[in-house]
Amino acid sequence: MLDIARKHFDVMERLADPLVASGLLNHFDTQIGRGADSSRHLLLRGNILRRCGRLMESRVVLNAFAREKGMGEIPDPDALCHPGLESEPGFVMAPLIVIDDFLPANEMDRLYRRACALEKEFVLAPSNRHAIGYDPDTRETLVHPQFDEADPVMRAFVGENLLRMQRAFGLPRFDLDAIETKLTCHRDGGFFVSHADNHKPFGEVGRAITCVYYLGRKPPQHRGGELRVIDTSFPDQGMAENWFTTVAPTPNRFVAFPSWFNHAVSPSRVPENRFEDARFAVSCHVLKPADGQTWLQK
Ligand SMILES: [Fe+2]
Repeated sequence: MLDIARKHFDVMERLADPLVASGLLNHFDTQIGRGADSSRHLLLRGNILRRCGRLMESRVVLNAFAREKGMGEIPDPDALCHPGLESEPGFVMAPLIVIDDFLPANEMDRLYRRACALEKEFVLAPSNRHAIGYDPDTRETLVHPQFDEADPVMRAFVGENLLRMQRAFGLPRFDLDAIETKLTCHRDGGFFVSHADNHKPFGEVGRAITCVYYLGRKPPQHRGGELRVIDTSFPDQGMAENWFTTVAPTPNRFVAFPSWFNHAVSPSRVPENRFEDARFAVSCHVLKPADGQTWLQK
């Protein structure tokens, strides 16, 4: 891993520290007692909560902020905020959809057992879909390109929820072009530096929605491996320095967001590097055709 990436992960870890979050929340609560502006306080509180992974608490606060601003309720019961909401001027927070207990427990167990049985068939992933080789500076991920057991599950969900996701994400309506599904595994030290899954304009063919579904034993034995979805400026896709949403890789949790948002996967720690305790995720991309539309001037 490059030094610059290691430093970025360290900074994000410190910013996401639950104790840092508690200290900041106490500070703002004290300020409110002194008459601080309440909508600004709500936005800061929501940002701090999502940054340390307290997602449902953050949703409640960001919903209250939106109500105060006359934006109405968050348009989807599983989305964490309104689409287009900015944490600071010019930087948009990803309107993530997060669904826990996504599949019946026995179905998740079946997929997890199957993933463990495929150990010998994983290969090191290239840094991105256009790269030819493995690049240890940007990514340490094992990938199984065909996880046939999960493919129908993801296809069914996307097929039934495409319109809903477009609305929750504030995306223009688009047709489904294709769905890519693969199984990824982060063993001890596994990571993926900050990147976006699509850099092209919205109107071109390409990845539009990134979905992740976590598999594993409950409780998970590994640590780290959090998904950090970084607040992003458009159309240049710049990254906010301080604000992101942390999603813990909890088994049986489904996550989705627009593929233009920057995101990273923090380094995993796996006891004795046991394969069955690694961080497993089904990674799925929803592709759209070229249609000439625009979104956030992208
Ligand atoms: Fe990605």
